[in-house]
Amino acid sequence: MNGLKMVLKTIIFTLLILSIPGQVFAVDIAKGQGIAKRVCAACHGKQGISRAPVFPNLSGQKQAYLLKQLKDFKAGVRSSNNMQGVTANLSEEDMSNVAAYFAAHGKVEASARKVSQSLLKKVDDKLNICMSCHTRSGISQNDKFPNLAGQKDQYLQKELEKFKKGKRKDTTMSAIVRQLDKKDIKNLSKYFSRAGKIKIQ
Ligand code: HEC
Ligand code: HEC
Repeated sequence: MNGLKMVLKTIIFTLLILSIPGQVFAVDIAKGQGIAKRVCAACHGKQGISRAPVFPNLSGQKQAYLLKQLKDFKAGVRSSNNMQGVTANLSEEDMSNVAAYFAAHGKVEASARKVSQSLLKKVDDKLNICMSCHTRSGISQNDKFPNLAGQKDQYLQKELEKFKKGKRKDTTMSAIVRQLDKKDIKNLSKYFSRAGKIKIQ
């Protein structure tokens, strides 16, 4: 009987260990903030809103999305000379903390007033393709799909072109961009960058 109890205990203990998700450390936003100020601010801005159009804004972006991108840069799955260098010096814990910090540091709000009727007309059809994941307003409802609203116009355009050329790979987005021509990419990037504003929190 005792032997059976021991076996049951072992099984329960093993199941408990297995049920703990991969991330065993608690996310520490204060540590993330420290890294953001020391390492990221130079390019992405003091508040995670960058000054140059080639550096994406990070504040208010989805936490799971940010973390995936950092891991992809570190693993070389997504290429960027700048970000490869940056992530080489970050542990998985650092990346979790800094992703949590930026996600919490801002909130993307709709600012549809900045979208002209003529621009809306140009993208109206294509927005139906983006809607299911990014929503028509570019503020996504799922942690895995990035917000597009309020992001830098030039950055969005560059990323869509990279998906198109196969330089950035993602099963979903690589298939989507086949339905877009150069003009669509330009108009959609302009539309989403204007459709929202990042409010620092
Ligand atoms: C030397 C400049 C530089 C520094 C420092 C830097 N970045 Fe970047 N970061 C970039 C560039 C350039 C890109 C765009 C890469 C591309 O072309 O895809 C980028 C992209 C990103 C992305 C992808 C965003 C998206 O919307 O997909 C994340 C996330 C990111 N950086 C996080 C960080 C974090 C966190 C730090 C600090 C630990 C940091 N970066 C430091 C230049 C920098
Ligand atoms: C079925 C879901 C889905 C649809 C539909 C979709 N996307 Fe995406 N999109 C994603 C995912 C997932 C990613 C993140 C890819 C990764 O992890 O690198 C993404 C990433 C992006 C990025 C990169 C953002 C950044 O910060 O680097 C852009 C730009 C983008 N999508 C634009 C669009 C546009 C424009 C459309 C419509 C024409 C669209 N997407 C339709 C799922 C989708």
